[in-house]
Amino acid sequence: MTEFDNNDDDKVQDNKELAVKDITTDDMPMAADTLIGWINSRRSMGNLDMPAPTHDQIKAAIECAATAPDHKKLRPWRFIVTEGESRHELGRALVKAAKAKAKKDGETLSEKDIRKTQTMPLRAPLIITVVTKMQAHKKVPPFEQMLSAGSAVQNLILALKAQGYCTVWRTGLLCNEPAVKDYFDVGPDDYVTAFVYTGTSPKNEPSRKPIDIEPLVRFES
Ligand SMILES: Cc1cc2nc3c(=O)[nH]c(=O)nc-3n(C[C@H](O)[C@H](O)[C@H](O)COP(=O)(O)O)c2cc1C
Repeated sequence: MTEFDNNDDDKVQDNKELAVKDITTDDMPMAADTLIGWINSRRSMGNLDMPAPTHDQIKAAIECAATAPDHKKLRPWRFIVTEGESRHELGRALVKAAKAKAKKDGETLSEKDIRKTQTMPLRAPLIITVVTKMQAHKKVPPFEQMLSAGSAVQNLILALKAQGYCTVWRTGLLCNEPAVKDYFDVGPDDYVTAFVYTGTSPKNEPSRKPIDIEPLVRFES
């Protein structure tokens, strides 16, 4: 009995299945070190412009997002694409949320704050909002579903990069305020996990300083 035997509907691939699908390293789009370098070259880019991905390119990226590790295949995520004029509507929802939050916190918003909030969605031609759609499941608690949503976001971002687009994953203090959740029809037990601002950057992705992983890792044998 393996640790996976109790998973009836989402068994980890076994060798037999892999053989049937005939997956080999020849299917790799590039050599492993090139692919790893490409993943490491991803940078978050603000102030994005046109061109934005086409709907077919967005759907291809969402197909990648939907392959994220997903315990019991609950598909606990949804994707909402906001582009063009609808970014102004999102801006209005953010302003409504900011006003309600300020009232709750006993603060007042300046005209400048309101303008800044209203124009936040204009920082890219297109935003893909990833929200959770939690399913009640005795073996898959909400935190696992949240992690799956995070994995979906990362797949989405990489698939957009593969098609030549830049992104930045933003949330901000307003993303789970009631007015924003209402705008995206997100239930009380669900979350807005990402605003993936998407477009084209006039600048190249800056190179990243090497990250010292030594303090982050422990090998045990
Ligand atoms: C859940 C989550 C929320 C984030 N929210 C914001 C945000 O609201 N604003 C922001 O500038 N960066 C935000 N970030 C960080 C950026 O997406 C990015 O990771 C960071 O700027 C580092 O840049 P890099 O991706 O080029 O390493 C968030 C990241 C995560 C994982």
